[in-house]
Amino acid sequence: MLLFSVVVILLQTDSTCCGLPFYNGFYYDHVMNDKGNGNGEIHFNGVKLVVETPGDPIFTHRGANITLSCHYHYDPQLDKPRKIRIKWSKLREDSTKDQDVLVAVGLKHRSFGEFRGRAHLQQDGPGDVSLVIRDLRLHDHGRYRCEVIDGLEDESGIVDLEMRGIVFPYQPHHGRYKLNFHEAKKTCEEQDAVIASFEQLFKSWEEGLDWCNAGWLADGTVQYPITLSREPCGGKAMAPGIRSYGDRHKNLHRFDVFCFSSALKGKVYYLAHPQKLTLEEAKQACQDDEAEIAKVGQLYSEWQFRKLDRCDAGWLADGSVRYPIASPRPKCGPPEPGVRTFGFPKHGKFGVYCYKRS
Ligand SMILES: *[C@@H]1O[C@H](CO)[C@@H](O)[C@H](O)[C@H]1NC(C)=O
Repeated sequence: MLLFSVVVILLQTDSTCCGLPFYNGFYYDHVMNDKGNGNGEIHFNGVKLVVETPGDPIFTHRGANITLSCHYHYDPQLDKPRKIRIKWSKLREDSTKDQDVLVAVGLKHRSFGEFRGRAHLQQDGPGDVSLVIRDLRLHDHGRYRCEVIDGLEDESGIVDLEMRGIVFPYQPHHGRYKLNFHEAKKTCEEQDAVIASFEQLFKSWEEGLDWCNAGWLADGTVQYPITLSREPCGGKAMAPGIRSYGDRHKNLHRFDVFCFSSALKGKVYYLAHPQKLTLEEAKQACQDDEAEIAKVGQLYSEWQFRKLDRCDAGWLADGSVRYPIASPRPKCGPPEPGVRTFGFPKHGKFGVYCYKRS
């Protein structure tokens, strides 16, 4: 509720008695205006500040420019505009403190941290305080709060930003269940990905992801998705779903991790090369092609978004050997599409997948 001010003429006596008298259809308070000019302004309580944000999430992908819609108005309309402050923040999954995105007063605005230089207000007409974010990063998915503050009132709305992408389980070269939470986050980043959220894992499970090793998620829980119930994965009697180990100790407990990647700015390709290569030769061969050896997240992304399909095992930057199959066929692994893996071979020669920025 907003309090608006008018010059007091005759209300002095009424306003001093009996709590909140009824006036002209609106309740009012007799709060003196702190910015007042001493003329004894009174605030009439009864105008509402309304902040509107879309109910549905925005779906987007890495690298996109997006607008998180947020509009405010007063109901009923004000005769004179009030000075307002806008604050956009991002709600964090694993802590209570929100992350500042942008603060604006009048025409001045300031963006913070990772959003510096990438975020501004749209200001496309009165009441438009939509947030524009350019060149979206993987970390940008989540819930954003649009807050309108006018000194007396503080109203807000929420916008959900979801990224289209792919969740993949990751196990490092030294084996199963080796990562604590912090290492898990870092490991995903090394694969050009981020640690997945529960919502992202859930969506992947709905789309058929089945993985019988437990992995860290962004909220600090450890879970795994099962579409076909079986004995070693929670038991045959348990309905398919996301199996959860709940919150685990972020330093002491060790698991695998679920990573999330979205569209690429460049592309991943299988390098045409006359011979098979060792890992070191493979890295060099990509560089000779003015590219770099691809990361696991990049291969998954190319497979998911551009249907990369190649029945040739190739090195990736982490020392694993994999190949992406979009149209399953005999001699190219199981009957479902997927990125096949040979683990981390210590010896042997293979092809290579390279990544070229655009
Ligand atoms: C995003 O906006 C910037 C600057 O306004 C522009 O240069 C860029 O091409 C846009 N990117 C996309 C993906 O539309």
